[in-house]
Amino acid sequence: MGKDVIIACDFKSRAETVGFLELFKGRKPYVKIGMELFYAEGPDIVRDIKERGHNIFLDLKLHDIPNTVMKAMKVLSSLNVDMVNVHAAGTRAMMEAALNGLTRDDGTRPLLVAVTQLTSTSEERMKNELLIDRPIDEVVMRYAENAASSGLDGVVCSPLEAAKVKEACGKGFLTVTPGIRFEGAGVGDQVRVTTPADAKKTGSDYIVVGRPVTQADDPVCAYERCVREFCDR
Ligand code: C5P
Repeated sequence: MGKDVIIACDFKSRAETVGFLELFKGRKPYVKIGMELFYAEGPDIVRDIKERGHNIFLDLKLHDIPNTVMKAMKVLSSLNVDMVNVHAAGTRAMMEAALNGLTRDDGTRPLLVAVTQLTSTSEERMKNELLIDRPIDEVVMRYAENAASSGLDGVVCSPLEAAKVKEACGKGFLTVTPGIRFEGAGVGDQVRVTTPADAKKTGSDYIVVGRPVTQADDPVCAYERCVREFCDR
């Protein structure tokens, strides 16, 4: 399992997504499909992009009772995606059920990673609204440990947390990290960002890059820069 750059295809429609991917000609970057595109186009968008030869991270962040999540994961697994995710807040029972639902009859399954605390949740809100009265770093690490002990493959986290997660959960536990920006570029609504090169240094396994590639004047060139900085030895 090598390091890879996942492009967050945060587009509204199939047409926009396919138009964007066609810019890459023969290349087949790893693609993240999120809620907006999936809810707009349904499972066909997954089949379509898969048929075009891309690996897919289906970012739907499931969070429900274990039985419901297990059955939903069975459906997602049949779409033949490569990676899916859940909220670790659903507890270990839910994560174990998710893993169960994902596993196909032949024993294969997509990678399963957990979202710890959303990067949009501040420590203050976690305390005042969710009544979790602990430092956010401690909560993130505990959720990562819960994911690891439930048998999940890794977590989605900030690149700034990746090294600590690996320390707590083992080197082979995957860290999938959004919040990537090029040196000197604007950060947009992201707060804690790093460059692809720094994400590599912190030990991220996959970087998720959206606007720095999708909104670039030359998206292919921006993607190649990410690959050069993050993947090259
Ligand atoms: O455009 P940008 O590079 O900020 O996109 C990052 C992508 O990663 C978006 O699709 C966003 O939803 C996703 N993401 C994130 N932070 C998380 C989880 C997912 O930015 N904690």
